[in-house]
Amino acid sequence: MAKIYYDAETTLSDLESSVIGVIGYGNQGRAQALNLRDSGLSVRVGTRDNSRSAAIAVRDGFSKKSIEEVAANCDVLAILVPDESIKEVYENEIQPYLTSHRTFVFAHGFAIHHKTVHLPSDADIILVAPTGPGHQLRNLYLEGKGLPALVAVEQDGTGRAFEKCLAYAKALGCTKSGAIETTFKEETVIDLFCEQAVLCGGLPELIKASFDTLVESGYQPELAYISCLKEVKLIADLLFERGIDGMRLAISNTAKFGSALSGPEIVDERTKHHLRRILSRIEQGDFARTFLKDPKTLSGTVSELFVSESHSKLARVGRSLQRQLKF
Ligand SMILES: NC(=O)c1ccc[n+]([C@@H]2O[C@H](COP(=O)([O-])OP(=O)(O)OC[C@H]3O[C@@H](n4cnc5c(N)ncnc54)[C@H](OP(=O)(O)O)[C@@H]3O)[C@@H](O)[C@H]2O)c1
Repeated sequence: MAKIYYDAETTLSDLESSVIGVIGYGNQGRAQALNLRDSGLSVRVGTRDNSRSAAIAVRDGFSKKSIEEVAANCDVLAILVPDESIKEVYENEIQPYLTSHRTFVFAHGFAIHHKTVHLPSDADIILVAPTGPGHQLRNLYLEGKGLPALVAVEQDGTGRAFEKCLAYAKALGCTKSGAIETTFKEETVIDLFCEQAVLCGGLPELIKASFDTLVESGYQPELAYISCLKEVKLIADLLFERGIDGMRLAISNTAKFGSALSGPEIVDERTKHHLRRILSRIEQGDFARTFLKDPKTLSGTVSELFVSESHSKLARVGRSLQRQLKF
């Protein structure tokens, strides 16, 4: 059974006398810095030269500070820049300025599990990975609720790393709904696998292929778009709230029968073979090696792919419908 920690069994005390430096003020950085500060902790924000988000941090009431300055003066450093930039940021702007023992917090295990950075051997290295984007982490906090998080310790330099980890999760609001214990490896592999196989890879491809199948057979693209893409939210909400069996209770008999007939035809042994291959590519580190080899070229290739996708029929129909329907 997964071990889950809640508010009642956690305390902020291991971080109350620390200064927490948040490096990067993007999706996670902003939400985490604000939640930590609103929980009463002492927070500094460090951004790079010519940062686009520094002005937002200042507007939110943080003083403008460089990454070097924050690295030199904080006890806890939450490194919240994109995973592929962590090595460069750590080696150039953090490591030369570290003065003593530090606690390093990550929101995803990627950089540590794939050893892109090498942190001091006496440091605490902890993971507090919220299970959603920053705006959700912040909004739930403001509503007095919390987003679940995954927590783990990779290295316990002080003997208090796990307590700090839970304190950090509590300050983010995450222990209100539950902080689930894991390892850096498990969080990294599951996160990468699910975003590739289901959430950002598999599902959009299934939507695109289903839309194309209908349109190529002469059906109205607008209707195909609504059924294949827009209605995903209705089912996703049911899945989120009730699980697969609960979702099935809420759909029509026709949908139940049709899904039992056709679902296994789409996800068959061949699909499972591909899923195992994707998992193995992640587990063996091949995905990370390819991703990190040349991030600039890679991000150019990916951008080109997405630009060409934005000219597709599906995307054009979506934009036009978005303007016409209030849905
Ligand atoms: N996004 C999510 O939903 C999510 C959820 C859970 C965990 N995570 C994890 O959270 C961590 C941060 O991800 P994120 O999505 O929050 O990143 P993000 O929004 O892309 O982060 C942007 C911030 O990083 C700064 N930055 C980017 N490249 C930099 C560089 N080379 N040097 C210095 N600063 C740089 C940006 O500076 P500027 O001010 O110049 O733009 C900005 O402040 C990652 O480990 C990610 O896996 C993300």
